[in-house]
Amino acid sequence: MKQIRTQVGIIGAGPAGLTLAHWLKQQGIESVIIEHRSRDYVQARVRAGLLEQNTVDILKDLGLADRLVREGHAHHGVYLSFDGERIRVPFDTYTGGRHITIYGQQEVVKDLTDAWLAGGNTLLFEAPARQIADYDTKQPKIYFEHEGEEGVVTCDFVAACDGFHGIGRKTMPKNSYNEYSITYPFSWLGILANVAPSSEELIYAYHERGFALHSLRSSTVSRLYIQVENEDHIDNWTDDQIWEELSVRLGTPGWQLHSGPIFEKSITPMRSYLIDNMQIGRLFLAGDAAHIVPPTGGKGLNLAIADVKHLVDGFVEYYRQHSYRGLEHYTQTALRRIWRAQDFSNFMTTLFHKQDDHGSFQYRLQRAKFDYIRMSDAYAATIAENYVGLPFDALTRFP
Ligand code: APR
Ligand code: PHB
Repeated sequence: MKQIRTQVGIIGAGPAGLTLAHWLKQQGIESVIIEHRSRDYVQARVRAGLLEQNTVDILKDLGLADRLVREGHAHHGVYLSFDGERIRVPFDTYTGGRHITIYGQQEVVKDLTDAWLAGGNTLLFEAPARQIADYDTKQPKIYFEHEGEEGVVTCDFVAACDGFHGIGRKTMPKNSYNEYSITYPFSWLGILANVAPSSEELIYAYHERGFALHSLRSSTVSRLYIQVENEDHIDNWTDDQIWEELSVRLGTPGWQLHSGPIFEKSITPMRSYLIDNMQIGRLFLAGDAAHIVPPTGGKGLNLAIADVKHLVDGFVEYYRQHSYRGLEHYTQTALRRIWRAQDFSNFMTTLFHKQDDHGSFQYRLQRAKFDYIRMSDAYAATIAENYVGLPFDALTRFP
């Protein structure tokens, strides 16, 4: 049996696991990563691409942002559209200069993986973790498979950064947490297309035919989404139909959507989910392993990185000062931001998706919110500060 000994055993090479490994290394703490999938599979997974200011700052501090700084797009505002009326919420005026950066999640994963392996560190691909054992002792273990052989990582702590379908959450005793979830009655059909973006900043749109989002990846690649029914199938949509729908839903007088060849399309369901305990003994959960937000607002990756920050703080305190205090409070600290992001993601989802008939009570509430953004600096500022992401001290200041 393959035997590995390390300080922190990490399951999952997504944004959470990779950032944790790099950050621990910077702090002189050793770790290894065990990843179920192949390197190609992980790096090809298309996901949202919105990085909060906090996330970019962390990646810069870790020396992992060279390509992100070169190729990412800084955005200082966002367009919101309702029934064809488009307004802009500027970030700089409302958040003291904080902004977001558009850079594909799989590019982040690629940069972090390349840097980790180039540094001679351990990351096993195609190595599914099968069991987390002894988390209530000082030597927890991760049993895994790799190249037809069984292996075990013996460590001081296990960090389950293994996404929504991982084994981390399943290992937590059912009576150790409460589960909260909302399943939405709609999904997103997302495309990547070889065409210059039709807008320099993102556009979130409510339309009577449903939600639409205009985003981008580069000066030649656009990323767009439309709301579809949960039962819908990608084969029901021709490329022309997708462009037509995007053009109608995002439309506003004097603006035109450019179309081009679509090279990726898929449908993703929408869910809000969390468990309110992210640790048991020496096992800690971070990222999608513990929570999912609907993508309206692009919080998923940023929440995963925020969890990692709190976990690193706890590990550093443990190894430097032999104190468990930070680790003990990990869930409690992380949950403040998680609930904030759950609220904001749900708010953006509810505001911009079609849920009931045009003219219904629900529709009129949505319309009233949109009108309020236009008339109130306070409301626009609320949206801006949540969208760019609250600073860490803003959420830890109150008792
Ligand atoms: N053994 C090893 N690896 C596993 C196992 C297992 N048993 N189960 C899952 N994994 C791996 C998955 O293959 C995946 O690569 O864990 C990784 C988890 O990565 P992500 O799903 O990207 O989760 P996370 O790092 O928390 O990042 C959150 O991902 O879903 C998006 O929108 C979300 O942007 C957010 C981000
Ligand atoms: C994306 O670019 O993929 C994206 C941007 C913002 C979102 C969701 C997805 O809210």
